[in-house]
Amino acid sequence: MKQMLFVFTVITFLYCDFSSAQRRISNSETAKENEFPYMAIVQAGSTTCGGALISDEFVITAAHCLMNLNGNQRKRIIFGINNYYKADDEPQRVEFKNYKYWIHENFTMPSATNDIALIQTPEKIKFSQKVQPLKLSCDERIDGNGKEVSAVISGWGLDENYHPPSVLKKAIMTLISIKDCYKYQPHFVEKITAHHICAFGKKSSGKIDVVSPCDGDSGSPLVAIDTRELIGITSYVKDAEDGIPTRNVCESDQAPAVYVRVTSYHDWIKEKSGIRFC
Ligand SMILES: *[C@@H]1O[C@H](CO)[C@@H](O)[C@H](O)[C@H]1NC(C)=O
Repeated sequence: MKQMLFVFTVITFLYCDFSSAQRRISNSETAKENEFPYMAIVQAGSTTCGGALISDEFVITAAHCLMNLNGNQRKRIIFGINNYYKADDEPQRVEFKNYKYWIHENFTMPSATNDIALIQTPEKIKFSQKVQPLKLSCDERIDGNGKEVSAVISGWGLDENYHPPSVLKKAIMTLISIKDCYKYQPHFVEKITAHHICAFGKKSSGKIDVVSPCDGDSGSPLVAIDTRELIGITSYVKDAEDGIPTRNVCESDQAPAVYVRVTSYHDWIKEKSGIRFC
């Protein structure tokens, strides 16, 4: 429990390792019932992440969630739940104990370049009020440069008390330009590219505040508020400049969270899934 977050010199991934059972969106609000019917819980070995359903059989998530998975480890994916701990009791959940997956061929560590993966369920999913796919945004230039763009993240990551929440949490984020992202994260100049989105947390009061994805939120979708379309995948938050993680890294006002810019990977998604969009 000493090391809460997974650390690779300078970046902190937001996935949960079951051995330490840590997850969170800090300073978040509780999601309403059926508010995020595209949300998936992705379990891969001892790692737990979020993901988003984008068709009747494909889920999009972060590559680093699946990178340590080997042949005989647990693979489980669950849809249509709100309360994480009572998942087994929720009769309308859709659950698979296996899945196929593709990690982007050029995913590299420790830079987390191309941190995107797709999961295919063994059977097609029947949609319901609780399980619905998310549309992918076709807006390539969405970046918060000039006009303010708000987006919502949802996840079962750690809450503001560093406790795993039982129910799904949500938080409103404001996109900032890549250039502004460098101002906060100068040592990230080579890591954060046009294939990323940076966003700060924003409380519903309108005040820019310390709202952030945290452990367990990796792979969870960032969705534009106005269109309700997928724009990003939660990848990491900044770590301390010296590479030493701080306990409250998810709450640092110096640390916008970094998301994969999904529009950069449309061709790859189309090739792997055959889904037609944009
Ligand atoms: C991976 O990188 C190589 C070399 O830059 C490139 O040719 C290839 O198209 C890339 N693959 C994907 C899936 O982007």
